[in-house]
Amino acid sequence: MNKKYQIASIPGDGIGKEVIPECEKVLHALSAQNKNIEFNFEHFDWGGDYYRKHGVMMPEDGLDPLRSKDAILFGSAGDPKIPDHITLWGLRLKICQGFDQYANVRPTRILPGIQTPLRNCQPDQLDWVIVRENSEGEYSGLGGRAHQGHPIEVASDMSILTRVGVERVQRYAFRLAQSRPRKHITVITKSNAQRHAMVMWDEIAVQVAKEFPDVTWDKELVDAATARMVNHPESLDTIVATNLHADVLSDLAAALAGSLGIAPTGNIDPERRYPSMFEPIHGSAFDIMGKGLANPIGTFWSAVMMLDFLGEKDLGAKLMQAIEKVTANPKLHTRDLGGTAMMKDVTDAVIAEISK
Ligand code: IPM
Ligand code: MG
Repeated sequence: MNKKYQIASIPGDGIGKEVIPECEKVLHALSAQNKNIEFNFEHFDWGGDYYRKHGVMMPEDGLDPLRSKDAILFGSAGDPKIPDHITLWGLRLKICQGFDQYANVRPTRILPGIQTPLRNCQPDQLDWVIVRENSEGEYSGLGGRAHQGHPIEVASDMSILTRVGVERVQRYAFRLAQSRPRKHITVITKSNAQRHAMVMWDEIAVQVAKEFPDVTWDKELVDAATARMVNHPESLDTIVATNLHADVLSDLAAALAGSLGIAPTGNIDPERRYPSMFEPIHGSAFDIMGKGLANPIGTFWSAVMMLDFLGEKDLGAKLMQAIEKVTANPKLHTRDLGGTAMMKDVTDAVIAEISK
């Protein structure tokens, strides 16, 4: 049976504009090997340049053409000349929240050939998936400013958790933990200091855990979790945390696994009411943009997550194998990994592996 996947391609800003076209090449190479699967990309030029022309990061009704897609491939949003909150809320969060992609999934492993800064960690001792609550918490967008510029100026960002929001993301994370060999999950909290919402978060974890008797679980304060990630990486497997907590932990996770250039993400709507969105974690990296130095592996790994989500597990596995073959070769390491390879070298090598 022939399958044609409709993918929205949004390179965004900075190195997003470089790595997304590379990823499209790789997906086309996969489909060349599997003639019954095709990818059709529709391109959207949203981001900083679009903002300079139109005063918005994406059109007001921009979600409409995305709605019917099977998935969204996203590069990055961020521009040194535009305030970060505009680039973020005007594009990436608009899509995440508009499509209620409430589970942000961030796998971390030390890929073959990659050095971890952890002295005593064997590569197989670090294998985590962080599930980040992606629709509320510290990123609810609620709050405001008054009396701007006056001594009495006031500003607030309100962090909110809803029972529905917490239950659904924790349930998603427990189910994910259940599907992994270790069947273990760590619930990150800060209920010693944040005494309302995080206490509810803890209580809901106790309830959700009862639905998963075959999953073991523990609870860790977010600050203690950073130390545990460094000192006992093998004690962790699946991790679930609120939006900001997981934002911080996932950068640490990516650095411990060798580089932010490798780390992938899926912004998932588990109910599949809307398309889910896949993107590298690294951001727009303006310092190296346009030079061909970016590491495309984070985007390729995100494409693996996309293929898995679309049900194309074999294709996903094939791409992941190709990625691991390439990272195993230090001559194919980009600058972020201490190597001298160019982005194009990495893409060519991944395509050569796929085409073998
Ligand atoms: C991430 C990023 C974003 C976030 C930034 C760009 C606002 O750090 O995806 O982790 O904090 O959500
Ligand atoms: Mg982050």
